[in-house]
Amino acid sequence: MKHSPILTLLFSLYFLTSFLSIQARHHFHTKHKHYSHSHNSSSEISLPPAPLPSPTSSAPEEAPSASASPSPSPEVASGLLDVRKFGAIGDGITDDTESFKMAWDTACQSELDLNVIFVPPGFSFIVQSTIFTGPCKGGLVLKVDGTIMTPDGPESWLKNNSRRQWLVFYRVNGMSLEGSGTIDGRGQKWWDLPCKPHKGPNGTTLPGPCDSPVAIRFFMSSNLTVQGLRIKNSPQFHFRFDGCQSVHVESIFITAPALSPNTDGIHIENTNDVKIYNSVVSNGDDCVSIGSGCYDVDIKNITCGPGHGISIGSLGNHNSRACVSNITVRDSVIRVSDNGVRIKTWQGGSGSVSGVTFSNIHMDTVKNPIIIDQFYCLSKDCSNKTSAVFVSDIVYTSIKGTYDIRHPPMHFACSDSIPCTNLTLSDIELLPSQGDMLNDPFCWNAYGNSETLTIPPVFCLLDGIPQSIPANDIDHC
Ligand SMILES: *[C@@H]1O[C@H](CO)[C@@H](O)[C@H](O)[C@H]1NC(C)=O
Ligand SMILES: *[C@@H]1O[C@H](CO)[C@@H](O)[C@H](O)[C@H]1NC(C)=O
Ligand SMILES: *[C@@H]1O[C@H](CO)[C@@H](O)[C@H](O)[C@H]1NC(C)=O
Ligand SMILES: *[C@@H]1O[C@H](CO)[C@@H](O)[C@H](O)[C@H]1NC(C)=O
Ligand SMILES: *[C@@H]1O[C@H](CO)[C@@H](O)[C@H](O)[C@H]1NC(C)=O
Ligand SMILES: *[C@@H]1O[C@H](CO)[C@@H](O)[C@H](O)[C@H]1NC(C)=O
Ligand SMILES: *[C@@H]1O[C@H](CO)[C@@H](O)[C@H](O)[C@H]1NC(C)=O
Ligand SMILES: *[C@@H]1O[C@H](CO)[C@@H](O)[C@H](O)[C@H]1NC(C)=O
Repeated sequence: MKHSPILTLLFSLYFLTSFLSIQARHHFHTKHKHYSHSHNSSSEISLPPAPLPSPTSSAPEEAPSASASPSPSPEVASGLLDVRKFGAIGDGITDDTESFKMAWDTACQSELDLNVIFVPPGFSFIVQSTIFTGPCKGGLVLKVDGTIMTPDGPESWLKNNSRRQWLVFYRVNGMSLEGSGTIDGRGQKWWDLPCKPHKGPNGTTLPGPCDSPVAIRFFMSSNLTVQGLRIKNSPQFHFRFDGCQSVHVESIFITAPALSPNTDGIHIENTNDVKIYNSVVSNGDDCVSIGSGCYDVDIKNITCGPGHGISIGSLGNHNSRACVSNITVRDSVIRVSDNGVRIKTWQGGSGSVSGVTFSNIHMDTVKNPIIIDQFYCLSKDCSNKTSAVFVSDIVYTSIKGTYDIRHPPMHFACSDSIPCTNLTLSDIELLPSQGDMLNDPFCWNAYGNSETLTIPPVFCLLDGIPQSIPANDIDHC
């Protein structure tokens, strides 16, 4: 939303510039029309891409006059870069990677305040695994109104490309990925690899390596907006933000089948100042997952499910130190999910999770709507360890709806060595989605209190503050 006035201005500038080009150089305009309206012409494939803007004509004020020189196209001058101008075909068959790279490099080197790479509607562009690298000179918008697709499955992945990531934005400051289009990860052939759970012969799981690409990764970047897009069927996580700062995700739709392995919606780690608003995620794993090193995260009006709910963790794997603080999840809906709001840590870790608020969340047929699991373990060695990530100051307020009776509605399994402290419950109403309640709320080494009567009532929280923890066992991060 915040770019639209600027975009309008840019488009006006673009048309004005085109108009001026008609006056100045009729032949150039003709060529431009040919580019825009004959995307199916074979000549386009062989035409050279628009040249880079000359470094001497880069000041924003000079942009319109730059079109008086015969070399840069009007689009370059006005900062609007249609990928087709760089040779992209968008027929769903051709590999358009090089055109996208050229469009990126041109936009990134442009010194205009804002540069828009435009992926037009009605076309499907196939792009191989690519790292789009900054820093860029001005702000950048990747406006996707059409479709961007992965190559179809592992067989089509170029051998020398990373199998862990597809579209990567690296060291970019000030970028918006937006539009009404679709990003399609075509994950099916990855999910069916024999190394995936139960996909081997006769329902076995063959040994890995089993790397599958994250669809969209922002790495070491800041001031990012992702808005309006549909992202579907990623081979692995749909979004991963790591080492980023100031991230705003707004109005996106993520879909993948409920049984697609590891297809987390939005994963963040080592990232702070994050807003995730007004979005819908249904997939085969966590809706949003918050890893180590995240703080100041605000999640609002998210609809999750089917899937595995919203998760902080897993943290502390391989005895690592994890720090997560100031996380809010509010005004959201979680339906038909394996968990609702979850904090999961491995034994043997250190660090802390603190200052987390889950507020006004509606649960619909959720297993484990509220869960802290400090015994998370996927490996064989799940022996008890003496250190743990310290969990404290967690607020659950106004969490209502229904749960699947095969699991307790509330489950606070805290570490033996370091208890959870200051868990606060208020205004909780969780009813069985069908049948009678079988499992009472479960607590293990969990300190806190219910500020109001909850449904079901929780009698298992320990009062007050534990006396037994040696202060130096707690790492406040
Ligand atoms: C391009 O045009 C040719 C002939 O006009 C047609 O046969 C072909 O199907 C078209 N291709 C696409 C991708 O529209
Ligand atoms: C990857 O391989 C393709 C073809 O095998 C080649 O064109 C391309 O330059 C290679 N890319 C890198 C980064 O080595
Ligand atoms: C964030 O990026 C936008 C362009 O996308 C830019 O206008 C703005 O100045 C940037 N803000 C900061 C703090 O870098
Ligand atoms: C799969 O199961 C069938 C029937 O039980 C057996 O004959 C076959 O050898 C098994 N294949 C493998 C790869 O285990
Ligand atoms: C919540 O998000 C949904 C999906 O984007 C949107 O349709 C709805 O208007 C949002 N609600 C509010 C109160 O913003
Ligand atoms: C917590 O994060 C919010 C943003 O989500 C921020 O506005 C607030 O200042 C942070 N609180 C603290 C104590 O840092
Ligand atoms: C670990 O600790 C839990 C809780 O005290 C206990 O139930 C479990 O048996 C222990 N496991 C092992 C392997 O010692
Ligand atoms: C308990 O947690 C709440 C919410 O994070 C916090 O405001 C409060 O200060 C904490 N209480 C204690 C005694 O630490």
